[in-house]
Amino acid sequence: MTQATAQHAPSAGASLVIEHLRKEYVRGKAVLKDISLTVEGRSTTAIIGPSGTGKSTLLRCINRLIEPTAGRIMLGGVDLCALRGSDLRAMRRRIGMVFQEFNLVERLTGC
Ligand SMILES: Nc1ncnc2c1ncn2[C@@H]1O[C@H](COP(=O)(O)OP(=O)(O)OP(=O)(O)O)[C@@H](O)[C@H]1O
Ligand SMILES: [Mg+2]
Repeated sequence: MTQATAQHAPSAGASLVIEHLRKEYVRGKAVLKDISLTVEGRSTTAIIGPSGTGKSTLLRCINRLIEPTAGRIMLGGVDLCALRGSDLRAMRRRIGMVFQEFNLVERLTGC
């Protein structure tokens, strides 16, 4: 992490602010259209909706597993979409995510 980013690293209680987020997997076909929301620091938020409406896509944008097509995702004033290289890796280490498909090794015996 660079000195500049380390100085501005968000605190544990930083709010997450999403502005005008758009994600297209296929050009011109938006899964997320103009999503804006704020999640206050140290709070719990549930994102609910029918299958295929983009809940996982939103979470994958937040931890930068996928790149948003447009918009901003700010954590404590840091634009997560602008992070690259070691700064991006440092930020990812601070974001926990439990995948929908766990991808854990199956039990190999009947025990
Ligand atoms: N890698 C991908 N490439 C193309 N389309 C995708 C990709 N991942 C998801 N989609 C499409 O984006 C839309 C939103 O999918 P997403 O998985 O974000 O929905 P979800 O709300 O998490 O659904 P579920 O409740 O079933 O988990 C769906 O139409 C899905 O087919
Ligand atoms: Mg999902």
